[in-house]
Amino acid sequence: MKEFAENLILWYEEQKRTLPWRDDPCPYSVWVSEVMLQQTTVPTVKGRFERWMERFPDLQSLAEASERDVLTEWEGLGYYQRASRLHAAARAVVEEHDGRIPSDENSLRKLPGIGPYIASAIRSLAFGVDVVAIDANICRVFMRLLAIDGRPGQSTVRRQVENSTLDILPSGDSSRFNQALMDFGSLICRPRAPQCGRCFANSNCKACELGLQDEIPRKRRKNIEEIDTAVAVFVCRSNVYIQQRPHGGLFGGMWEFPGGKIEDGENAADAVVREVEEELGVACCVTEKITSFVHFYTRFKVNLHAFMCLTAQELPCDEKHRWVEWGDAGEYPMPSASRKLIRILSRQ
Ligand code: ADE
Repeated sequence: MKEFAENLILWYEEQKRTLPWRDDPCPYSVWVSEVMLQQTTVPTVKGRFERWMERFPDLQSLAEASERDVLTEWEGLGYYQRASRLHAAARAVVEEHDGRIPSDENSLRKLPGIGPYIASAIRSLAFGVDVVAIDANICRVFMRLLAIDGRPGQSTVRRQVENSTLDILPSGDSSRFNQALMDFGSLICRPRAPQCGRCFANSNCKACELGLQDEIPRKRRKNIEEIDTAVAVFVCRSNVYIQQRPHGGLFGGMWEFPGGKIEDGENAADAVVREVEEELGVACCVTEKITSFVHFYTRFKVNLHAFMCLTAQELPCDEKHRWVEWGDAGEYPMPSASRKLIRILSRQ
């Protein structure tokens, strides 16, 4: 395995990817990039990271930004709680650590959204501490090298992987070692179709030797949930009515049209009238079907049905319910399906 570590570094020096967060691996840019990369692919993050850094170039500017600006900047990256937590954590660093991102594990782990992986990534990539940041990709690499059966999330598997990474971690070179593993997992030891023919380690890899590289790790079947949703569009002159989702849950703090899930056996127009009554305490009627479309999120699929609605009563107006000018809707962070509907409506 020591030989694997040496060859890995040699391979990395020839094949490493050019990635914007590698230009200046300061704690803030490592942190932002790792949070983005947690659930989003490298090609998407590349452009978005650069845009983020222009908008919030340092921790102070992020801490001072409004929640709305932060969520809007995150739009399209998904898993919005990541953005809310990053924002809350930036504020905590300003308040509790004088604006300096800490390098010790305990302090890092107390910050919102920082788990063992991101803490280790910040410590090794930005501070050069001798730790390995083990995520599902690095777990897969070691599971194949050692032909470990099971799933990357299992604690027994994790322990074996942790021990072997620590055995071969070159002291004082953990930043390079971790990034080399990330690139190796992404370019060669890929989740699907691993490139064993091009791999410098194929003669030391137990999975390759046994022909099990496609079977390790064991696959988990993904169930994509399908949700039927009906939403109400209330328009008054050049304004449209939107409401804010509760903080903490799915799309927490983002803005959307009133509406919700269509229940079994219910038709979409009835669902919208019921949802408006339940959410806003107002009776409304549907005047027109606007559109229906399908939108895919990472873990679920939404069939969205939108209706133009009218009410004789007053819609609530407070900090979570607003009439906004069409032209200003872009400043409100929204789930992608709601944003798509705004675009459709703007063309009409
Ligand atoms: N995947 C997770 N973190 C990464 C990083 N810092 N560079 C490249 N790929 C990654």
